[in-house]
Amino acid sequence: MIIWISVSKEFLVSLHGGQVLSWKTDRGEELLFISSKAIFMPPTPVRGGIPICFPQFGKRGSLEQHGFARNKIWVMDDHPPPLQPSDSSGKSFIDLLLKPSEDDLKIWPHSEVRIEGLETLDYLDNLHEKKRFTEQGDALTFESEVDRVYLGSSDMIAIFDHERKQTFIIQKEGLPDVVVWNPWEKKSKSIPDFGDEEYRQMLCVDGAAIEKPITLKPGEEWTGRLELSYVPSS
Ligand code: BG6
Repeated sequence: MIIWISVSKEFLVSLHGGQVLSWKTDRGEELLFISSKAIFMPPTPVRGGIPICFPQFGKRGSLEQHGFARNKIWVMDDHPPPLQPSDSSGKSFIDLLLKPSEDDLKIWPHSEVRIEGLETLDYLDNLHEKKRFTEQGDALTFESEVDRVYLGSSDMIAIFDHERKQTFIIQKEGLPDVVVWNPWEKKSKSIPDFGDEEYRQMLCVDGAAIEKPITLKPGEEWTGRLELSYVPSS
């Protein structure tokens, strides 16, 4: 059984993995992808939302795929450290967003979705034995399976979805790399907890520290921070 915490009317977080499962606009529209075949039963991580891949990404290490954090039951901290003034003043501005219709899903053109902030960077391609390549395009678009780790990106990445008139902005600190994943048509069919056509509805873009692992001595601390914001456009 999964225990969900409703952080506010906009957020739902699962204590299994500390995973954000729902992020809604103030009109109740969902912004995060959860597969219709997601399995809500630990220890299976839920397919979708915002998972925490820690302390390793993928199989780069001796632990299970994506590390243990997403399989642990997290607890609530009753006495959290105070927020910085800049954190607590943050507000999101929401405009009307239409839910995709059946027709939208059929034509959802990944070529209409582009990521800016990764151009000219080197990346490790999981589809080519983690070999290193250099991004040649002036933005990343999608027409086939993508599974890459972009190295040493700036701290701001933008994901433009022209069809749905929405933009997501990722701002990050302490997380130099960026993971980009979409299983596309063929791979989707081989993932049990993922619908055959759901690759049209999702894109995984995440801040990460992969190329240079972070090593802590006893008592040392490290902070990584990622802020995801949503901007409707006209
Ligand atoms: C992505 C990885 O972040 O997660 C992919 O780049 C992986 O290689 C995908 O297939 C899903 O991983 P999992 O363990 O949740 O099926």
